[in-house]
Parts: sequence; C-alpha cells; structure tokens
Amino acid sequence: MYIDPPYNTGNEGWAYNDRVNSPLMKAWLKENGPVDGEDLERHDKWLCMMWPRLQLLRELLSDDGVIFVSIDDNEQHHLRMLMDEVFGEENFLSAFHWRKKGTSTNVRGADVSSVTDYQICYRKSASASLNQRVTRKETRKYPNSDAEGCYRTTIIEKKNIGSYARGTMQFQILGHYPREGRRWQIGQNTARKLEQRNRFVSDNGVVKLKIYDFEDKDTRSANPSLLPESCGSSDSANKSLIRILNDIGFETPKPVELIAHLLRMATDKDALVLDSFAGSGTTAHAVLALNKADGGSRRFILVECEEYADAITAERVRRVIRGVPAARDPALKEGLGGSFTYCELGQPIQVDGMLNGEALPTFSTLAAHLLHTASGVSAGAEALERRGRDGLFYSSANVDYHLLYEPRAGWLSSPDAMLNEERAKRISAAAKKRGRKAVVFGPGKYIGQRQLSGMGIVFCQLPYEMHRAGQ
Ligand SMILES: C[S@@+](CC[C@H](N)C(=O)[O-])C[C@H]1O[C@@H](n2cnc3c(N)ncnc32)[C@H](O)[C@@H]1O
Repeated sequence: MYIDPPYNTGNEGWAYNDRVNSPLMKAWLKENGPVDGEDLERHDKWLCMMWPRLQLLRELLSDDGVIFVSIDDNEQHHLRMLMDEVFGEENFLSAFHWRKKGTSTNVRGADVSSVTDYQICYRKSASASLNQRVTRKETRKYPNSDAEGCYRTTIIEKKNIGSYARGTMQFQILGHYPREGRRWQIGQNTARKLEQRNRFVSDNGVVKLKIYDFEDKDTRSANPSLLPESCGSSDSANKSLIRILNDIGFETPKPVELIAHLLRMATDKDALVLDSFAGSGTTAHAVLALNKADGGSRRFILVECEEYADAITAERVRRVIRGVPAARDPALKEGLGGSFTYCELGQPIQVDGMLNGEALPTFSTLAAHLLHTASGVSAGAEALERRGRDGLFYSSANVDYHLLYEPRAGWLSSPDAMLNEERAKRISAAAKKRGRKAVVFGPGKYIGQRQLSGMGIVFCQLPYEMHRAGQ
C-alpha cells in the first residue's frame, strides 16, 4: 500500500468529510468547514480523518504486506504515534527520507527550509519484509576484454607487516615478486592454478588478477533510509505530469520514480498495490512502468473521492497506457500497456438507517447490494429494475432473484411486503418453468421454511426488524 494523504499544512483546504456520529467526535468536529492554519483543532481533525482509514487499510493489508505513507513535518510525529497504535510499534520499518527539492527556499521569517519528506513504512506482521537492495554488475566496470570475455582487474597484494606478514606469500607470479614491503593475498598453489588459466596480467610490473563479469555476482544489501536521488523531486514530478496531462492541472503529484522505488523495495512481480489517496494517479503509473520494465504483472487499486477521479486520476492512467507523445522516456512515449476498470461508488447502504426507517435505499440500490452480498455478482443498480409484481430483479444461469421491497417504512410492515403461499407458488412455478431455483429477499414471510424448500425457494430476511420500522 502507498498513500499520500493531505499533509495538513494549514492551507490545503481539505475538508473533514466523513459522517461522524459519535458525540465525542462531533464535539471535536464542531463544523465540517475547511481546516485552516489558525484552527487549534487541526491536528485532532487530521487524526480523526486518518485513524479510521488506517484501521481499514490495515485490515485490507495482507499479512506479508507493507504500507508507505508520505508525510512532512506538520504531522509526521503524530502519524508515527497513530501508526504505532494501529500497526504496532514492532512493525515500524523506516521513515525513509526523500529529498523533495534541491535547494532551500528562503521564506521570510522562517529559520528552516524543509527539503525532505518522509515515507513512513510499517509492515503488517513479521512475515513481511522488504526486498534487499540489489547492486547490479555494471558493464562499464569491465573495461578490458580477451577471448574469455570482459574483465576488470584487481591488485592482489597486501602490506607484509605485523600479524599480516607471511614470508611464504612472496613468490613470483608472471616473473614478478610483490612490490617492496608487500606480499601476495593468495597462496602459491592457488597462484599456480590461476597462472595456468591465464588469469594474471602485468600492469607496468604490478601483477593484477582478472575478474570476469560472469564471475561477479549482484550484491544485495539492506535499503538505506535515505532514498536515492533517482527518486526525483516535487519539481520533476510536476514537469513530467504536465507532459502527460498538459492543460489539466494537479498541484501535488509525487514523482513516478519515487513510488516505483518504494514498489521495487516492497513488491514481487505479481503484487496487488492499493492507493486510497490517488490524486493524479501516480501509483498506477508507477505500477505500469515497473511492469513494463521487468515483465511483472502487478495490479493496482486506486481510490479518489474528488470530482476529478475520472478527469484527472483515471485520465492520467488512460494516457500512460496508450502512450504520451510529449514524454521523454521512450517506454512512456510508446505507452506502458495494461488496462483497468473505472467504477463509481453507488449510494451507500446504511444498515442503521434501514433499521429505523430513516434512510431507506431505493429498490435498485438495495437489489444491487443484496445480489453482490449473496452471489458475488456486481451489477450496476441501473441494471436491476423490478420486473413483475413479485419483485424479480435478476436471473443468473440457474437462479431467479426476487426482492419484496418498497422504500417506505409503512409498506415494509404491511402484509403486501410478506412472502405468502400464493406468491411463493407463483415464484416457484415461474422458476421451475425455466429449470431454476429462486432466492427471495423480503422483510417477512407467512409460510414455513420447509414448504418453501419443497418449492425450490430460499428465503432471506432483510435486516433485522426492518419490517417493524416506523411502528
Ligand atoms: C496529496 S494528494 C495525492 C497525490 C498523489 N500521490 C499524486 O502523486 O498525485 C491527496 C489526495 O487524497 C485525496 N483525499 C482522499 N480523502 C481525503 C480527505 N478526507 N481529505 C482530503 N483529501 C482526501 C484528495 O482528493 C487528494 O487527491
């Protein structure tokens, strides 16, 4: 997971936009207006916004998963404490430092210009780990070549003093002794074998050992907490985003290189990556770029609550998939490939509201919710209109789904809403004609379960006591 929530700088204009019902929270959040720098409660509000989100993200994170959160000095200390609470102190991996700008900005009156942000990293559990940093063999390190291949050379002498002194290691190789006051690092037997294999060269009288590129291994080491310069900067992120989106602006993008670096540290080639503060969609871009570079099949889920989810977030992803003519990187110019599905959240189903009759969902919204819960099928609410008087709303290959429902509390407690024998017979007959079973959702029934089973009907009662709502 990677998230980049508002930093709470006091001038972002972010709004606390959750429906909060607990009196404690309500007291904190007296108003839902934008948070400003003068607001003494701004840290409380930010934490109230973050806490449930981090809780949920932790639940969604796999046991071997890790989460990175971008943050700066405004909230990093609070975020660390919050994450210690949600993820456990023992799961803290690092506060990676990312250099976001090259030079300090001279703001009048400020003592310090912050040039770094943090990428706070926690794991879900001890079964998660970051990939080791791999330092690859670089071809330019092998400037020489012969019939066997490309090689570099290394001196094989040591100072011959103190406990390092070894008289037996001062023999001839290629007709040369070690230089004054030195000895070889290898013994005579080894040296003779290497000599036979033509593995030494004399460089102006200094004997060196050849090391071929195929003998050097990639080296692995722990990830430094200071991220490399190759992670880009805020400035480079802005510039490359303009090349992708030209006239469509987005103010706070992260560089693709930064997120790609975090993904390289934390993912396998088939990882699933979630970003629930998607903004301009950099995370999807980084996933696709990395897949293109290493042949991976990582997938992404991006979530964005603002109006621009389609016009900016998804649009950026569409463009990088297809290819960006103005891009400098040839892979991006050509198009990164891949695909995604764009979904909008429907009306929320509020169980509380259903129980007290205050917020009854529409027929189609409830039908979509029930169908998904019961069968895993996702159908847009608009596709689920009521057909006929018995509330048939969807037919799969072998099941008819019915919903006995009107969004009126009075109706739900009336006999009209009940599954009775007459209705059950009609439903059963229609289903049998087409060789199907039937599932009926409704607030209540006037017919026994055994009789229904005999008719091939499964009855599912709508949320507890809903039929008494409004009484
Ligand atoms: C800093 S931006 C993320 C930028 C992104 N990493 C990129 O590279 O483009 C934060 C995003 O979080 C979204 N967001 C989600 N929930 C939010 C909330 N409760 N308050 C403010 N912003 C929220 C905003 O709409 C915004 O797009």
